[in-house]
Amino acid sequence: MPSKKKYIFSISNQKGGVGKTTTAINLGSFLADQGKKVLLIDLDPQANLSSGVGFSTKIDGNWQNANKAPYSSIYDVLTQEKNISEVFVTTDIKNLFLVPSHLSLAGAEIELASQLARESLLKKAIENFDEEFDYIFIDSPPSLGLLTINSLVAANKVIVPIQCEYFALEGLGQLIETVRMVKNLNSELELGGVILTMFDARTNLATQVVDEVRKYFKDLVFETVIPRNVRLSEAPSYGKPINLYDTKSSGASSYKKLAKEFSSRFV
Ligand SMILES: Nc1ncnc2c1ncn2[C@@H]1O[C@H](COP(=O)(O)OP(=O)(O)OP(=O)(O)O)[C@@H](O)[C@H]1O
Ligand SMILES: [Mg+2]
Repeated sequence: MPSKKKYIFSISNQKGGVGKTTTAINLGSFLADQGKKVLLIDLDPQANLSSGVGFSTKIDGNWQNANKAPYSSIYDVLTQEKNISEVFVTTDIKNLFLVPSHLSLAGAEIELASQLARESLLKKAIENFDEEFDYIFIDSPPSLGLLTINSLVAANKVIVPIQCEYFALEGLGQLIETVRMVKNLNSELELGGVILTMFDARTNLATQVVDEVRKYFKDLVFETVIPRNVRLSEAPSYGKPINLYDTKSSGASSYKKLAKEFSSRFV
């Protein structure tokens, strides 16, 4: 792989609501703040990443008919109608770019099922995209279906956010098995890191989960733990990463710290 595409991260965990999208938005924007050139690829039909960085996925306040996308999106890339170069957009953050998603992507699993090399559509699109980035992040949906497989095949590292809650480790075996299977298609792929999210210092349980995850994944776990912070959950409704919404919040300082740790790990 050419060095300009050295770091392609798939942010994956088939468990829903563990902080995949929040991490893509805020880790991505603090890395961009550091001067890194970052591309976020929204591979989830929910398009939370797209709206979370201020991209309008609505027209006149309504969700569009799934078949009538009002803008070009990752859907057009996967169906090979468009190149990423025609679809990616700038955001309010300098150095931060987005390939938006659209609800029409929800049908992609079925529509692409008969495509040749359907697992490698995103990989091919990224290879054909002739622009340099320091980091590319792919935000995966909460499933292990064709979209997540595309995310894993396109990446060279998997980042797994884990919520500091009961059952945190449940289902991770399945994810790791999927990563192992994807290695047949993409031998470069490896686990790049585990991020502990939504830590609540008031509970013993959260501390126990942190210990358990560290014991299991060892050095792969980032030192920085992301606390539960209401400002992080409010920011997406304003279409803003936390560094534009509330710089002083604990959510902002923790994602800033994570971004520092991240760029020193992935130089
Ligand atoms: N550290 C945090 N503190 C408080 N709320 C958070 C935090 N991280 C995420 N949230 C909120 O929790 C919810 C789930 O987070 P997020 O959307 O990032 O998870 P996800 O893994 O991308 O979910 P999905 O699997 O549905 O794509 C969102 O409402 C988000 O705003
Ligand atoms: Mg998400």
